[in-house]
Amino acid sequence: MEQVNIHTSTKSYPVHLGKGAIQQLTEIIHGAEDSYTSIMVITDETVATYHLEAFHEHTALEQIVVKIVPSGEKAKTFEVYQDCLTSALENKLDRKSLIISFGGGAVGDLAGFVAATYMRGIRFIQVPTTILAHDSAVGGKVAVNHPLGKNMIGAFHQPEAVVYDLNFLQTLPEHEVRSGFAEVIKHALISDDVFYNWLKNDIHSLDNLNDSQILEFLTKGIQVKGAIIAEDERETGIRAFLNFGHTLDHAIEAEAGYGKVTHGEAIIIGMLFALQLSIELLGLDFNLQAFKIWLKNLGYETSIPAGLFNVQLIERMKQDKKAVNNTIRFVLLEKIGVPALIEIEEKVLLMHLKEFVEEGE
Ligand SMILES: NC(=O)c1ccc[n+]([C@@H]2O[C@H](COP(=O)([O-])OP(=O)(O)OC[C@H]3O[C@@H](n4cnc5c(N)ncnc54)[C@H](O)[C@@H]3O)[C@@H](O)[C@H]2O)c1
Ligand SMILES: [Zn+2]
Repeated sequence: MEQVNIHTSTKSYPVHLGKGAIQQLTEIIHGAEDSYTSIMVITDETVATYHLEAFHEHTALEQIVVKIVPSGEKAKTFEVYQDCLTSALENKLDRKSLIISFGGGAVGDLAGFVAATYMRGIRFIQVPTTILAHDSAVGGKVAVNHPLGKNMIGAFHQPEAVVYDLNFLQTLPEHEVRSGFAEVIKHALISDDVFYNWLKNDIHSLDNLNDSQILEFLTKGIQVKGAIIAEDERETGIRAFLNFGHTLDHAIEAEAGYGKVTHGEAIIIGMLFALQLSIELLGLDFNLQAFKIWLKNLGYETSIPAGLFNVQLIERMKQDKKAVNNTIRFVLLEKIGVPALIEIEEKVLLMHLKEFVEEGE
């Protein structure tokens, strides 16, 4: 079992990771300084099918309300959000109640936003069940989607604790493992080359990861994120580095239509592009070819999906949250572990994007 402690300006909390970590949940709840009056668990259909029974068995919490929402991005709509609030009101949750999010990043973002807004904010605990959620469960960004944009309606609301039981990951389909592992690679590239080289030398396939590898890369990934949010909880500065690979990713996800490419698959392409820009604009010393070969062996696509056009991608990038006055700001790397936020003019970007697309063909 591992424990990582997260310290932000508004709250400190533990992340417990390991096989069987769920068994600590009851103790954490009963040990709360200010005791809880009632509990609502928010989970999705898939996670409920696979793991709700085990959740009940290992926590033995009595009289909890369970709210089951649709799986994936469909959980992050206004309708589902309202439905959760209705259940909370009907079941008489009060200001001392607890919400537990049991699922991947989508359920975590939804349940966290319910907790952030119900009666102006109640406490919540994250129980993540995907690899991607090592990123989303930590840091307190919670949100639902607006039809005009993903994650546009949200809040900062830190959990009381994160309880990450690796047993739940066993049912994750491989493309979801791949999606989550992309964020692990991101955390390595923006933090240090020892972490990156370990991943690259130790992990050759995503369908036979062993428990100790998973525990190690999730713990390290969470430590990287924790160190960044400790300094910048609200993204006024270095938290933006966590968006490495995400500028082009957001454009690809939006242009392809949400759900067509997974978040992680698109970040990989975004990181490859950001690395190429880093080599050309900042003189980064990096073996891009070896990186690409490793990614292909892990089952990732390494070029922009067919049918997407550069000009449209650039238009999307201008709408990125990091963009200011229409200039596009990219997270690039001076070295592995040394990110920098760089403004790039549209015409320069278009030129590099064209080159990137041609090389990928
Ligand atoms: N708040 C943040 O800081 C932050 C950071 C990164 C991503 N996110 C958000 O996280 C979401 C993506 O997270 P995700 O990939 O975990 O998505 P997800 O919650 O949609 O899970 C992916 C799929 O896997 C299924 N699933 C979950 N756990 C499973 C398990 N143990 N076994 C089998 N299937 C399982 C889900 O039902 C879903 O269909 C996006 O909405 C993204 O915006 C938030
Ligand atoms: Zn991401």
